Amino acid sequence: MLSSQADGVEKRVSLHGHWSSRLAFVLAVTGSAVGLGNIWKFPYVVGQNGGGAFVLVYLACVALIGLPVMVSEVLMGRRGRRNPIATMALLGAEEGTSRNWRWVGGMGVLAGILILSFYSVIGGWTLSYVLKSASGMFSNATAPEVTAIRDGFTGSWKTVVSFHTVFMALTIFVVARGVERGLEQAVRFMVPALLGLMIVLLGYSISSGYFGAGLSFMFSADFDKLTWDSVLAAMGQAFFTLSIGMGAVMAYGAYLPKETSIFGASVTVAIADTMIAILAGLVIFPLVFANGLDPADGPGLVFITLPLAFGQMQGGVFFATVFFVLLSFAAWTSAISLMEPAVAWVVEKFNHTRAQAAVMIGLIIWAAGFGTALSFNVLSDFKFLRGTIFDNLDYLTINIMLPLGGVLIVVFAGWVMCRNSTSNELGSSGTLYRLWRLLSRFVAPIGILFVFLKAVGLLPDLS
Ligand code: PFF
Repeated sequence: MLSSQADGVEKRVSLHGHWSSRLAFVLAVTGSAVGLGNIWKFPYVVGQNGGGAFVLVYLACVALIGLPVMVSEVLMGRRGRRNPIATMALLGAEEGTSRNWRWVGGMGVLAGILILSFYSVIGGWTLSYVLKSASGMFSNATAPEVTAIRDGFTGSWKTVVSFHTVFMALTIFVVARGVERGLEQAVRFMVPALLGLMIVLLGYSISSGYFGAGLSFMFSADFDKLTWDSVLAAMGQAFFTLSIGMGAVMAYGAYLPKETSIFGASVTVAIADTMIAILAGLVIFPLVFANGLDPADGPGLVFITLPLAFGQMQGGVFFATVFFVLLSFAAWTSAISLMEPAVAWVVEKFNHTRAQAAVMIGLIIWAAGFGTALSFNVLSDFKFLRGTIFDNLDYLTINIMLPLGGVLIVVFAGWVMCRNSTSNELGSSGTLYRLWRLLSRFVAPIGILFVFLKAVGLLPDLS
């Protein structure tokens, strides 16, 4: 029985094709992980949550929770070889439990749709900054001028919606064509180029005279400032930046060739992603302090600091344009992975072509995006629970849905799947395997639940 089951698993293939190599997979997942989360979101959540202590908690979450979840997602994806909903149903049945695990996949598909609805609005914002930079409007601009340009953009809902539309169209276009072609090529160029440009910017930031201030803001940990809400935000950010907890990595894992080492690939992605986020912080914060800006300014932070810095630089128009092009690329390769679970599901379940599925899902996401696009202008005073519609979507998806999805995924891989299945899929039963199992059975689920319950006030204070 076991061996015939194993044969079945070996023979499984994905309907959507496979990555051409291990490198292609690593690049695709890195392309998914590295995005607006690293350069747009990381600096402002660090700013809003007081700096150093937050960064340390974030790093601990990446290592102790993020990595085991990522490994679990890839191994489940590769074993199931279907979209996350079908994979969870299949593996649930195969392990002798229930097909109802498919609801975890369902929540992931929904999370991807909701996240992309705001991600695309910010992606459009990035696109508009390509044009603004190229026009030279930031040359020698002062901080109030750059702030006014940002407010001018966000204040006009028609402009925000137009760029959101362009960004969604680009995303639909690529997803419709399939992820293997074009995408692999784009990522091959994009990740090294982005890293190179960040290092150039780091040089500028070091020369701003405020590098020490930025460094100490990011790394001197004052744990008194840390609330459970910021610990939850750090954990949510770890999930968001690694693209885990919603099945995107599971979907990409479904296209992974059998021989590839899942541990090696996951660690490589996590390191590349973390380096780019830290680098972004080290570029942004010195510029914030050098220009008397507020590190807790929020979602518009990078759209002020970086244009300001570029405006003062030799060749700034060129560098600014290249930077926003790369950031748009980074956002675009992430956006594709946000759509992939939903599109793969529609293709498999309803037998639609990829193009039909991409257009259908894309239109739904585009319409949902109005909620965020209008949160910066027409509906900026419409606040409930956590704030604007955007604030609520952001909180619901990143701080609630991703950690909840993450905990269910590691519990599935660690407790529901038998040792045989996981060690067979991971190709190991040695030290690394035991470490992964320890983290995914105990450390990650207990950590996620604890932080979550603490932040929503369901666990009492002992002190
Ligand atoms: N990891 C992406 C970023 O940091 O911008 C965002 C993201 C992509 C989250 C894909 C979730 C996901 F499935």
